[in-house]
Amino acid sequence: MSVAGRNSQDNQDRVQIFDTTLRDGEQSPGISLNTQEKVEIAQQLARLGVDVIEAGFPITSPGDFEAVETIARQVEGPVIAALARTHKADIDAAWNAVKDAARPRIHTFISTSDIHIEHQLKTTREDVKGQARAAVALAKSYCDDVEFSPMDATRADVEFTAEVCAIAVEEGATVINIPDTVGYTTPEEYAAYLRRLYELIPGLENVTLSVHCHDDLGMAVANSYAGVLAGARQVECAVNGIGERAGNCSLEEIVMLLRTRKDIHGVDTNIKTRELARTSRMVSRLTGYQVPPNKAVVGRNAFAHESGIHQDGVLKERSTYEIMDPRDVGLDSNSIVLGKHSGRHALRDALEQLGFKVEGQALNQAFKRFKEIADRKKQVTALDLEAIVSDEMRERVDTYALSWFEVEAGSRREPSARVAVRMPNREESVGFAHGDGPVDAIFGAIRDAVDTECELRSYTVSAVTEGADALGEVTVVLHAHGRLASGQGVATDILEASARAYIRALSNALDGAAIREAEGVIADAATERTPGP
Ligand code: KIV
Ligand code: ZN
Repeated sequence: MSVAGRNSQDNQDRVQIFDTTLRDGEQSPGISLNTQEKVEIAQQLARLGVDVIEAGFPITSPGDFEAVETIARQVEGPVIAALARTHKADIDAAWNAVKDAARPRIHTFISTSDIHIEHQLKTTREDVKGQARAAVALAKSYCDDVEFSPMDATRADVEFTAEVCAIAVEEGATVINIPDTVGYTTPEEYAAYLRRLYELIPGLENVTLSVHCHDDLGMAVANSYAGVLAGARQVECAVNGIGERAGNCSLEEIVMLLRTRKDIHGVDTNIKTRELARTSRMVSRLTGYQVPPNKAVVGRNAFAHESGIHQDGVLKERSTYEIMDPRDVGLDSNSIVLGKHSGRHALRDALEQLGFKVEGQALNQAFKRFKEIADRKKQVTALDLEAIVSDEMRERVDTYALSWFEVEAGSRREPSARVAVRMPNREESVGFAHGDGPVDAIFGAIRDAVDTECELRSYTVSAVTEGADALGEVTVVLHAHGRLASGQGVATDILEASARAYIRALSNALDGAAIREAEGVIADAATERTPGP
């Protein structure tokens, strides 16, 4: 079977991947990425080969605006999209943020379900039609590429949604995206809904139909796939499936589903699947959202065989129990690349092979960390290098940094810690605290050193590789300076990794405080607050 897309402009056998990790994904509770981290993810998404990056929702904050603008200016390859409600101020902000991209897109949305129209928008269907028309027309006056979404479409009257989308098409929308905003639909129902839209909307076959599914009932990938079978040629998804509530369609799952079962549907994506595992690790590291071991495609156990029968089968012939090759998703990158005696050149070459261009001072710093780790660990693998470099990239001169720490602990004494923190003014401040355990004591000593109050919301430790000498990776989420912020740290010593992670989370919270100060000024001038979609 081969499923034809309906849009005569689309490449019929290609499904465009629209990545919304930095917009819908970033709306997950506890995720707060700064601009540098968002650019880092966007660069990796470009390397992965996504067709569109939805970089953010610029009206929501100066920080979001800055991140979208920086990505539009620096990230080459994909279309860069920004989200906007139908308000003029939103569309102006979206356009100003993406206008420097080689291929900008404005994505505007308004709800078509009566539940939203009545209770949230407190308006009428007629008004929704008017707002959709005005918004698409305005966006189109700035930008050729305009996407329109009727939010909560799957709970809306299909005839009314079609009327609104027809207006958007008339005004020049290039993409019509049908969101299952609350993850309510089922594959058959969704496919029937999309087929009905093709019947009702004149000219829908001349634009790209897109799907955007949430995972509240665990159906986001299945529903997106049903959408593709019904003719959609863009799938909106997020790395590791992050997003509002239960999240979005998982990018790696829909991509590998389309690749692996191309035999039955005849369509594929432009994704370089060998980058999937690395992209997943990067997003997990920077967001603090751990990937469950049994997660399809990128989980640590996605290709592990436990039962004797399965192991026996795979040893004899891989295809007995494996439907994908782990190398195709980049899960073979744990090869040993360097040893204790490797030099600076070898490190630079290895990093280059892993896609990191590290020179000058950054290379010296990475080399120093590599040596420290190589002294303690017999073998340094590609995964270790990736973790060290990502860790080094977190180090900034304008915030707090760990100088040194000492801990006293044991089963017969109350743990205590002394930690020296390099302050933003470059001076060192030493703090001291007792705690319930060594990690708690370290966190207390850091708070003492920087003289701030904050509340620990979550603390997770994982091993970068297997074995007793594995690098430990710690993620901390805390509430400080009035906001949630996360931080990560990597070291052979879990206590050191914990201290680094805690200090980085505090630094990120400090960034947010500075941003909010600026926001306060802007909020005074604004007439309303902007809730996320
Ligand atoms: O879930 C949703 O409806 C959205 C829209 C803004 C596309 O995220
Ligand atoms: Zn969404």
